[in-house]
Amino acid sequence: MDPPRVITTLDDLRAAVGPLRRAGWRVGVVPTMGALHEGHLSLVHASRAECDFTVAWIFVNPSQFGPGEDYARYPRDLQADLDKLAACGVELVFAPAEGEVYGPEHDTWVEPGAVAGPLEGEHRPGHFRGVATIVLKLFNMIAPDAAYFGQKDYQQALVIRRMTADLDLPIEIRVCPIVRESDGLAMSSRNAYLSPAARRRATVLWKSLCLAKELVAGGERGAETIARRMREVILSAEDARIDYVALVDPETLQQVERVDRPTLAALAVRIENTRLIDNCILTVE
Ligand code: PAJ
Repeated sequence: MDPPRVITTLDDLRAAVGPLRRAGWRVGVVPTMGALHEGHLSLVHASRAECDFTVAWIFVNPSQFGPGEDYARYPRDLQADLDKLAACGVELVFAPAEGEVYGPEHDTWVEPGAVAGPLEGEHRPGHFRGVATIVLKLFNMIAPDAAYFGQKDYQQALVIRRMTADLDLPIEIRVCPIVRESDGLAMSSRNAYLSPAARRRATVLWKSLCLAKELVAGGERGAETIARRMREVILSAEDARIDYVALVDPETLQQVERVDRPTLAALAVRIENTRLIDNCILTVE
């Protein structure tokens, strides 16, 4: 397939997308920070299936990284990303430079509400403010009909759904299932940080989610009991450090005491200093 056209300026982007929109094409956008894997590409496939034209966005957004986080070493390989996008048939990639997105005087931020508070919000202060701001900016730049996100970042998708509804954005938010490696580890650009041994230990995240599903299927309803058993599985991996293991309401992200309706099991764990997140919905028969 032909390589996609790479656009780096807002003017070129608007010139490329404007005529398509005026012609009535349905435009889909897939926001990413690059270092693309099959998880990202599943969003591209979904957009290509549902839209007439798909724009892939690649931008490592500095404002969503906290001090001491991995912004500087976040993996960047535009050529490899373009090859993968070409193989999926993507025609347009917007990969702006930082100065194109945040001017020197940039001083306006989107402050998400309660849904951004728990889980990631507690451990990464300011993270969702950075995410919401960049996503609103990209929505304004591209004016897509639909935008594709992964359930891997469950809370992020909720924050964006809330923002889209609250700010009356005429954009459909689509959330696609988590794509996993064959041993269950959720695909993530950050998996590349793991040494081979730590990569093997990282399967405890998925194992703990599977245990939660088994416990619920076997009739266990106590959220704290399930969370405790999950923590035991995770901590069986040498050097695993838990940020949180939480059983929460899938809409409000508030802790539940009993799993007697669909419940989100969400976790964030550091293995070998790499922070990994995962989640699943626990359903009750
Ligand atoms: P990034 O981490 O690159 O992820 C881009 C999109 O891919 C997100 O919607 C994420 O949930 C999805 N994704 C990642 N791993 C996945 C997997 N294993 N299965 C399915 N989907 C997966 O999320 C961001 O970038 C940024 O916060 C962004 C929204 C681009 C704003 O900067």
